[in-house]
Amino acid sequence: MEPVKGATTADRLAPRDPARYDRRFAARAAGIKSSAMRDLMSLTERPEIITLAGGLPDTESFPAEVFDEVWRAIGRDHRATALQYGPTEGLLELRERICGIMAEGGAEAHPDGIIVTAGGQQAIDLSVRTFVDPGDVVLAEGPTYPGAVPSFSTYEARVVHVPLDDDGMRVDLLEERIEELAGQGIRPKLIYTIPNFHNPGGVTMSLERRRRLVQIAHEREILVVEDNPYGQIRFEGEPLPSLWELDGGAGWVIHLSTFSKILAPGLRVGWVAAPAPVLRKMNLGKQAADLGTGTLNQRFVVEYLKRFDWREHVARLNGIYRSRRDAMLRALEEEFPADATWTRPQGGLFVWANLPSYIDTTELLARAIERHQVAFVPGRGAFLDGRGGHSMRMNYSFASEAVISEGVERIGAAIDEMIELQRVLGGGA
Ligand SMILES: Cc1ncc(COP(=O)(O)O)c(C=O)c1O
Repeated sequence: MEPVKGATTADRLAPRDPARYDRRFAARAAGIKSSAMRDLMSLTERPEIITLAGGLPDTESFPAEVFDEVWRAIGRDHRATALQYGPTEGLLELRERICGIMAEGGAEAHPDGIIVTAGGQQAIDLSVRTFVDPGDVVLAEGPTYPGAVPSFSTYEARVVHVPLDDDGMRVDLLEERIEELAGQGIRPKLIYTIPNFHNPGGVTMSLERRRRLVQIAHEREILVVEDNPYGQIRFEGEPLPSLWELDGGAGWVIHLSTFSKILAPGLRVGWVAAPAPVLRKMNLGKQAADLGTGTLNQRFVVEYLKRFDWREHVARLNGIYRSRRDAMLRALEEEFPADATWTRPQGGLFVWANLPSYIDTTELLARAIERHQVAFVPGRGAFLDGRGGHSMRMNYSFASEAVISEGVERIGAAIDEMIELQRVLGGGA
């Protein structure tokens, strides 16, 4: 075939015959749903828009001199190995330090029982890839982490949501769902849960429910994937034991975590702790995906942890987040309608709000961006069954207090317009 002459950049970016590719995509690729928050990430590059949409930690507060010292140490002592391929499971020194971090939270793990991943995100992907065949059931909170949605849809999981309340997943309803599925001859493959400072729900699972959840996993022999990026991002209340700890080594819990929130998300370094047979399969999946997590980034984490106390950095971050959360809660009180409700998180990065049922938050977002230059994550992105239309997630970790207040005020103005529209159209407002 003759090469096409004179194809412009625009032609290459938007080829003349997109249907050519549509016809060729694997069924798996055709069904992948995007993560709502990823779609909104590009807005962070438009300075006129206040975005409360991302889950961006505060990286401004990372001290310049710490950064410099870590870089210098890598250049001086580890240049060749930091630039070299490494083992798929990650640097041993890093896995040892990860075990130390887990032990701080009361969770015992062995370096051989850890794989370092490209962020917690890859750990989710590897978990789903390892266990889920098309049509397999995954039980997940509703709402669930919007970033897990592409993983669930890539591997064609059938996600059955379990409602959340202020004490986390409704474990009683989880049991009901399992019972209903058993009646249809279905055993769920995984229970995916975020017990600490749920994203997007903002709530934390109570100790009683954690115990019951682990008991259910043991009784019913269902694997639990515990996704824990926010355990250390607590600025109020007492830490609770992880599901990994409560499992006591019985092997029914896979624990995922990350350096994204305690250090920096740009490093893309996370981890999974799991029983040996599971790790062996995940290791193969990771070999296929990327051979191994960037050695330079792993080395950055190791050299940082050797020289500095991560707890001090996290304590500083938590102080910042607490004030920003307060700014958001104050602004919500002032700007949101009386019949809206929202969570009051004791940690993590997000507030989840429920608006009156006549407001659709996807429509609200379009109005908020266009007319008020402000963005948030609409609730539908956190469900795979079309629910969440009246809910929204707002982030308080990234913007300053003043910007958060302004952002919430603008969203409030967009909501007021929709209420007014509803009134004029003779609806139920
Ligand atoms: C619940 C949850 N899991 C996983 C991740 C992925 O984090 P990362 O890949 O940056 O470690 C996030 C990030 O926001 C999250 O909120």
